Amino acid sequence: MHPWIADRTTTFDSSGIRKVFDLAAKLKDPVNLSIGQPDFDVPDSIKEAAIEAIRDGKNAYSPTQGIAELREAIRQEVAAKYSHEDRDVFVSSGTSGGLMLAMLSMVNPGDEVIFLDPFFVMYPALVRMCGGVPVPVDSYPDFDLDVEKIAAAITPRTKMILLNSPANPTGVTASEAELKAVAALAADKKIALLSDEIYSRFFYDGDFVSPASFNDQTIVIDGFSKSHAMTGWRVGYVHGPSEIVRTMLKIQQYSFVCAPQPAQWGALRAMEVSLRGHMDDYRRKRDFIVESLSDCYEIARPGGAFYVFPKAPGDSGAAFVERAIGQGLLIIPGNIFSSRDTHFRISFAASDDQLRRGVEILRSLAGASV
Ligand SMILES: Cc1ncc(COP(=O)(O)O)c(C=O)c1O
Repeated sequence: MHPWIADRTTTFDSSGIRKVFDLAAKLKDPVNLSIGQPDFDVPDSIKEAAIEAIRDGKNAYSPTQGIAELREAIRQEVAAKYSHEDRDVFVSSGTSGGLMLAMLSMVNPGDEVIFLDPFFVMYPALVRMCGGVPVPVDSYPDFDLDVEKIAAAITPRTKMILLNSPANPTGVTASEAELKAVAALAADKKIALLSDEIYSRFFYDGDFVSPASFNDQTIVIDGFSKSHAMTGWRVGYVHGPSEIVRTMLKIQQYSFVCAPQPAQWGALRAMEVSLRGHMDDYRRKRDFIVESLSDCYEIARPGGAFYVFPKAPGDSGAAFVERAIGQGLLIIPGNIFSSRDTHFRISFAASDDQLRRGVEILRSLAGASV
């Protein structure tokens, strides 16, 4: 190892998803069901707002906490949902930026952070970067948020429970009762509750529920990347107790500085854009995938996001994904998101044609009729 490299960087690897993308680069005309972003483009009115901002010279740093207009619009939306006395809002550099600031603000070396396994790839890496200890809680085969399993994982070193519903990579949504139970557990044990709600708008059966409805100390991280297909714009937001928000802002000041200003003007316009059509479309895609594969794969029905996480036939998810790639289908092995290598992730954020071709390959790999 190069002598200049810090020890903390050796506690995690770079994301295995990149390896799949490298393989993908070699395929001609693959069926690509591996992508973690919507297949629609940023709505035109949002693009125009950002272009206008650039033309109007809104190109400098914004305040650390974000432009006042966007912050106020988010604050109003948050206030309409929660009547918490002490809840402040700021604009972060994507949801990832918000997650990093949350960890840096709350996790001391040796602190334990509980989250479900399977998990979003960034979680264990971020915890380790702060010197913390990731505590993944096995949620197979249904990927439910089981309060008893979470309670059993709590030790005197537990600092935080990190929730993600709807979840990446499973698409599974926690029920109101489950969220209520975990929110009460965190309050009872005085443990920080961090809720990654990046997929909150991709919610197909009923209305989205946040654990913040049941625990007024919840720190919520959300953003525009997925909902408005703005993954490259890097705009997210955080709301939570004011002292935690102030601490996160102190770190933002010395790291990200602010979210890109023109993108924040785009995000302000995004708040007026209806996503109804896209969400109805994604619900239909979810139904298609689940209905087309349920007779030959073991699937936990996803209530949100745009992922399905079936069990791979055979012993290894990674070996199955290699076979799929051999047939021109790109999917992601489950061991990238988990300590188990038994499943694989399908993203249904793809055109209907790609989904149909993907289903055909998956059915033939399972030995089912096509
Ligand atoms: C669960 C989850 N959280 C956060 C992010 C990061 O989102 P952003 O682009 O806002 O940083 C992703 C992206 O894949 C995600 O799946």
